[in-house]
Amino acid sequence: MKWREFEPESDAPAAHRVWREVGWIREGEEKRVDMLFSGSDVLVADLNGQPECLVARGRGTVRHLRTDLPFICIETVTTSHIARKRGLAGRLTAASIAAGVADGGAVAGLGIFEQGYYNRLGFGNGSYDIQVSLDPADLMVDAEFGVPERLGLDDWEAIHASRLGCPRGHGACTLSAPEFTAAHMALGGGTFGLGYRDFDGNITHHVWFEGRGENGPYSVRWMAYRDHDQLIELLSLIKALGDQVRLVHITEPPGIQLADLISHPRRSELVSRGSEFEVKSRAIAWWQMRICDMEAALAATHLPAERHLRFALQMTDPIERYLPEDSPWRGVGGDWIITVGPESLAERGTDASLPRLTASVNAFTRMWLGVRPATGLSVTDELSGDPDLLRQLDEVLLLPTPMPNWGF
Ligand SMILES: CC(C)(COP(=O)(O)OP(=O)(O)OC[C@H]1O[C@@H](n2cnc3c(N)ncnc32)[C@H](O)[C@@H]1OP(=O)(O)O)[C@@H](O)C(=O)NCCC(=O)NCCS
Repeated sequence: MKWREFEPESDAPAAHRVWREVGWIREGEEKRVDMLFSGSDVLVADLNGQPECLVARGRGTVRHLRTDLPFICIETVTTSHIARKRGLAGRLTAASIAAGVADGGAVAGLGIFEQGYYNRLGFGNGSYDIQVSLDPADLMVDAEFGVPERLGLDDWEAIHASRLGCPRGHGACTLSAPEFTAAHMALGGGTFGLGYRDFDGNITHHVWFEGRGENGPYSVRWMAYRDHDQLIELLSLIKALGDQVRLVHITEPPGIQLADLISHPRRSELVSRGSEFEVKSRAIAWWQMRICDMEAALAATHLPAERHLRFALQMTDPIERYLPEDSPWRGVGGDWIITVGPESLAERGTDASLPRLTASVNAFTRMWLGVRPATGLSVTDELSGDPDLLRQLDEVLLLPTPMPNWGF
């Protein structure tokens, strides 16, 4: 497969056609593709002289505890109706990741359409997000809230800056290009925002909705705030819609259990079961990540453990099969000596005197991020080792649940 960089002038009509074919845009919504691509690195594979497979990649950050690492975001992968099942998307995505690594990326991430596909490129499942569907009138917040400003599509740069201003926890991601936010603001129907600015005109906190119709449901696409008072003010705003809107879908913000702020959630669940406005919560594992640079990922790993743990890792990386022979980056498979603790390290090599762990990069990434502990992964994923080593890994890699808190 030959691939090349996207040429906006000549390739845009074919890109629009592919996006219409996969159902991501309708006639008249082509600007969304242009906007996203203008802030992304896009690779193209041609078939019969036409771009039929496109992969868009963005740059950003992903946080491990308190340290940000350069993040490669695979934003979109699309193959047209005529080019499916020829291995184009798999190989083009691998090429895009390799290009992201050459650009300094250490960890790659993406949103999945289904489990399994990107596992073949070394990605492993992330943690669940909890999506709560609630009647806004049931929110138990009664903070004073100021009159918000209406925010619209034209506010994309200020809205992006507001998102970047959020405090970030473990696993938090950002994307650097404001065009990414602009493209996502228009996604779906009837999107609008409500928010507040400081004296300098910067948006301090805001909520971005998708929703139509008199009574909803509305979806909170994201909320951005700098502190918890601002979060409560946004939730109070949402509650204020509750005289009219009967259901709002909200993803639980990091560190917050929304159940604490909802009155009689179980009763509402029972009463609304099966209705258009069903109150419920769902756990969704929508994102996957993989380490692309072991040295960088481990150097950024500063665990609160009181000791260091050293082991020999034999790692497999399935992305190798999707990369061309002459690719300078061939994944992260092979033998490593790993140290994890307050200061961590990945070194190429092996040492027979050390305890031994065998893992795919998929499973190792999940352990490193804290998606699941080593003992659990040894049951369900490609990770194995002496039970004593697994137990020690559980103790040393005791991490909070990673949450990207940024849709991609
Ligand atoms: C997903 C998509 C990009 C795949 O494009 P493609 O070029 O046909 O993909 P490839 O040829 O590289 O891979 C197809 C292979 O993946 C396999 N596959 C598909 N889904 C899979 C899954 N969940 N788990 C494992 N394998 C899967 C297929 O069975 C096929 O295998 P085969 O080649 O052995 O028959 C394409 O179907 C598409 O554009 N879909 C709509 C847009 C979309 O959902 N994009 C992904 C966003 S995350």
